[in-house]
Amino acid sequence: MKNHQFRTRAIHAGQEADATTGSTIIPIHPSTTFTQSAPGEHKGYEYSRTGNPTRAALEECLATLDGGLFGAAFASGMAATTAVANLLSPGDHLIVGAEVYGGTYRLFSGIFERWGITTTYVQSREAKDFAKAVTSKTRMIWIETPTNPLLNILDIASLAEISRNSEIMLVVDNTFATPYLQKPLSMGADIVVYSTTKYLNGHSDVIGGSVITSNEPVFEQVKYYQNAAGAVPSPFDCWLLLRGLKTLAARMEAHQLGAEKVATFLLEHPAVSKVLYPGLESHKGPQLAKKQMSGWGGMVSMEMHDPSLLDRFFRNLELFAVAESLGGVESLACHPYSMTHASMPKDLREAIGITSGLVRLSVGLEDPDDLVADLRYALES
Ligand SMILES: Cc1ncc(COP(=O)(O)O)c(C=O)c1O
Repeated sequence: MKNHQFRTRAIHAGQEADATTGSTIIPIHPSTTFTQSAPGEHKGYEYSRTGNPTRAALEECLATLDGGLFGAAFASGMAATTAVANLLSPGDHLIVGAEVYGGTYRLFSGIFERWGITTTYVQSREAKDFAKAVTSKTRMIWIETPTNPLLNILDIASLAEISRNSEIMLVVDNTFATPYLQKPLSMGADIVVYSTTKYLNGHSDVIGGSVITSNEPVFEQVKYYQNAAGAVPSPFDCWLLLRGLKTLAARMEAHQLGAEKVATFLLEHPAVSKVLYPGLESHKGPQLAKKQMSGWGGMVSMEMHDPSLLDRFFRNLELFAVAESLGGVESLACHPYSMTHASMPKDLREAIGITSGLVRLSVGLEDPDDLVADLRYALES
């Protein structure tokens, strides 16, 4: 599968026809346990927390899409994040790009700091400012790019160089870009993390997460944690995810087409003061985005001149559902300040630019003209 193109791998990797029945589509294996001829004599599976054939197919497919050697699937993006954070030990120092999902901030600050992981949040997007935060105890740098919800771009290759020189692990949460648009491992990142709940599944009906790496010792620890802590996805959810992955490339192209139309419309609308989309020349860092991404994705954020009109804007939307999450075929609108990033302290939210006037749009696969009409109505009525 390694020599095949992305779209082919997304459809076939890990999914040979079933050996006993010839089933073309990978079966859902709900069995919690697997019969052994004698203790220890089995066909690779013993107990479904430890390993399950449907999950194994998903893990292989996910790893292949990122160009990684190993993949581990989890019951949520936060469970995947927890598995990676568990590579750290009390006394270790973690550097986090401050523009992360609010739940990631909550996990690091509310749980891992209590377990003795000291954390520095870097508000800058410059690699040199991450370098300044490194101490003799730093073991991991954690970033998102494009960031959630401001869609800023961080330089993966430069951060990888800092990490390599100091023997630090660079972790990239690639949920927004997906492996279709960005491959952090190829730029020197050690670990890639996903909320597969989002674009990878793509249909807003599975909560899931994954960890991808080519570093075998790291993977052994992640697998050990996966089995020991047990936050594994159900076989049915793995199967749904495999189904979603088959259309990832086609969906990302269509998301992007819609997002470009939405961003262009918003840019010209008099009620809108700011549009954030990596593909816009007005956006910070378009050169860097071009260097490390092959497209800009389906997320657009914006601010209105008059934030007092926001409530009316949200209530007027008909096609865009006002909801948390992103990356599904249906368009969603959210207010990061009070929704996805409410768990981040107000001072930090405001310092990095998550204002009470910010709106985040996940542009779905409806007809882009209908989406623009929906936004026009919501802004103008
Ligand atoms: C960038 C990013 N990472 C991780 C997560 C957490 O994923 P999950 O909700 O699947 O636990 C989210 C959720 O919104 C996210 O947006």
